[in-house]
Amino acid sequence: MAKRFTIAVVGCGDISRYIALGVKLNPRIRIAACVDSVEETALAFAKRHGIPRHFTETAEMYEGVPGIDAVYLAVPHYLHHGMITDAVRRGIPVFCEKPVCTSLHDAMDICRMAREEGVKVGINYQYRYDSACYAMARAAQRGDLGDITYGRCNLPWYRDDDYFGLGRWRRRIETAGGGTLITQASHILDALLWAVRDKTPVAAQGMTAQRRFRDIEVEDLCMGTLEMDDGSILGISSSMIAVPEQPVSIEVYGSKGTGIYTGPESPRVRFLGAKVKREKTGIFAFHALFRSLEAFRRWILFDEPYLTSVEQSLPVLAAVLAVYASARSGRREPVDTRYRDFLK
Ligand SMILES: NC(=O)c1ccc[n+]([C@@H]2O[C@H](COP(=O)([O-])OP(=O)(O)OC[C@H]3O[C@@H](n4cnc5c(N)ncnc54)[C@H](O)[C@@H]3O)[C@@H](O)[C@H]2O)c1
Repeated sequence: MAKRFTIAVVGCGDISRYIALGVKLNPRIRIAACVDSVEETALAFAKRHGIPRHFTETAEMYEGVPGIDAVYLAVPHYLHHGMITDAVRRGIPVFCEKPVCTSLHDAMDICRMAREEGVKVGINYQYRYDSACYAMARAAQRGDLGDITYGRCNLPWYRDDDYFGLGRWRRRIETAGGGTLITQASHILDALLWAVRDKTPVAAQGMTAQRRFRDIEVEDLCMGTLEMDDGSILGISSSMIAVPEQPVSIEVYGSKGTGIYTGPESPRVRFLGAKVKREKTGIFAFHALFRSLEAFRRWILFDEPYLTSVEQSLPVLAAVLAVYASARSGRREPVDTRYRDFLK
């Protein structure tokens, strides 16, 4: 068997458990080392997943475990920029959890550096690899639904007290960048913006609220609208206080037909009004997260097309930041579209 694609995991918290499962189910990938600033967390993660080395510092890991093919970063948002650029400087490809970081300036800095150094950086917006979501977005991109005049997405989720109690970084703007919009709903907004990728968001209006978690800085409710350069409109609503939690939905309404996605558990897409060919991702794996990881591997090793490079993560970050700016100012705010230079 060919040498397995070897990664290190940095940040051994919630999402890394699922990545470790994805690696177990993929015989082409192995984890050579894990890093967590909390020693017991790194040790427990290494033991549970049979990982040979564990560290508390990324620099020690890079020195102690040479020759890794990529690093997977699953750390608080405020650490993303520094950890991505550190890996890029070392020439190591990066698979980083969303969002790329919390400022567009820093995100474009990462894009520039990745280009200069010739190092690939991917951001894990895995809904693009959800089979039903992919089929809907590709149908919209191919024009099967006609011109998309509006779209909307909704994330009615619930988070219990442990969510902010255990992950204290999630409480603060400085460490998380925001609440339910940037941390959870940016997934579905990314997928929606990707479905209408020929349009650019130019202005935003937003409202945020803290209805249940009142001793935190970030929002637990958010609603926003995005005005696109052709006059079409996208809407987003996001909650972490819906009881009971419901599936997310992404809807695109075109001049010929409509696509409606629900998921991510038991993902499903319905097409109304138009006859649509359901395109497949071409990657076989049990879950969108695992397909996203496998797609990253193929991109790094074989330069196969990859849907969520760091450049691709810029539109959603620009849109999210404009919704937040509007929620703060109470006015319609422009979207910073300078990122478009990186999508050419
Ligand atoms: N793709 C998805 O569906 C999905 C789901 C959940 C979270 N996420 C993303 O994953 C990332 C991590 O979120 P989480 O929920 O797993 O957070 P978490 O708080 O559960 O885990 C983060 C871990 O990072 C460790 N850490 C903190 N500082 C560190 C440092 N300097 N060096 C090494 N380790 C450090 C913490 O000790 C903790 O164990 C975030 O970007 C989040 O938005 C993605």
